[in-house]
Amino acid sequence: GILRHASYLRNSSLQCLPPRSLAQNRKIQENAPQRKVKGPAKSLQDMSIALLFSKRSTRTRVSAETAAGLLGGQALFLGKDDIQLGVNESARDTARVLSGMCQGIFARVGDHSEIEEIMKYSEVPVLNALSSLWHPTQTLADMLTILDQKEFFYQNEDRSRQFRPITISYVGDSANVLHDMLVTYPRMGMKMRVASPPNYRAPQPVWDRVVELGCDKNILWTADPLEAVNGADIVVTDTWISMGQEHEAAQRYKDFAGYQVTEALCKEGGANPDWKFLHCLPRKKQEVDDDVFYGKRSLVFPEADNRKWTIMALFDLMFGKWSLLEHDPKA
Ligand code: CP
Ligand code: NVA
Repeated sequence: GILRHASYLRNSSLQCLPPRSLAQNRKIQENAPQRKVKGPAKSLQDMSIALLFSKRSTRTRVSAETAAGLLGGQALFLGKDDIQLGVNESARDTARVLSGMCQGIFARVGDHSEIEEIMKYSEVPVLNALSSLWHPTQTLADMLTILDQKEFFYQNEDRSRQFRPITISYVGDSANVLHDMLVTYPRMGMKMRVASPPNYRAPQPVWDRVVELGCDKNILWTADPLEAVNGADIVVTDTWISMGQEHEAAQRYKDFAGYQVTEALCKEGGANPDWKFLHCLPRKKQEVDDDVFYGKRSLVFPEADNRKWTIMALFDLMFGKWSLLEHDPKA
């Protein structure tokens, strides 16, 4: 539902059109008065959304700020040097104060326990903009990107799209981006093949959730990147050094030697000849070379664009229409 909504929003107003060349944009603007394009509902009218970000962000932040604006609301970027949290004030007090003034919180935190604390004391819905364990909004954008590729979906009678049972391979660090993939794709009938160095397996709370959801049956985990990419329709990776792990860089570069995604690796490992590539960004050359990242298989920039529409769909449904959904904000 969220993906369908994101796709609707992407096409629903002039501002929401997918990126075009400057000349195309100019032409669209010139013709704008004649076009009758319905804009998104202003479901965040008179609402303020707190973007509580203790870590850097380009895509998530810009998506959130622009999406809130398009929905008629206001986003407040609260970086770690802007507010009292963590220096003079607890997460508990910050959550209570923000939920007295704002109608939603989108939080990017360090340790996952920090967002749990915010959720515990917030009186408005809290969405995860990235934590040490999870990055759910990234997976939503990835799913929309996959559903844009005709070879990866079936069309139902009502023209909605359904994922084909494809194989998604992930080569690299077991970090937040992978963890949401592990609890999502196997439930949609897809197979996952993951390669990470032996000491970089998913943390226990993540694996417990994978098992609880029955996803482990569709996941093959190996230390061998060649084995992981065998039969891959889509290959995914992420940085080897997530935010906050900079002090581990030297050790990590050693441990991840041989895990770079390249054409040669995927050919030798037996990936589907038409495999496609996804990466959440920001990207370093170590985990994927330029030929793949900027090559014909790469979907990374449409994937980045889709962060906006999926976050906008989430904001619309979870913040804007929350009261209509009659959900318990703490559920
Ligand atoms: N993919 C992603 O979350 O990017 P940012 O860190 O720039 O938000
Ligand atoms: N694993 C990365 C994702 C960045 C979007 C990090 O946590 O830094």
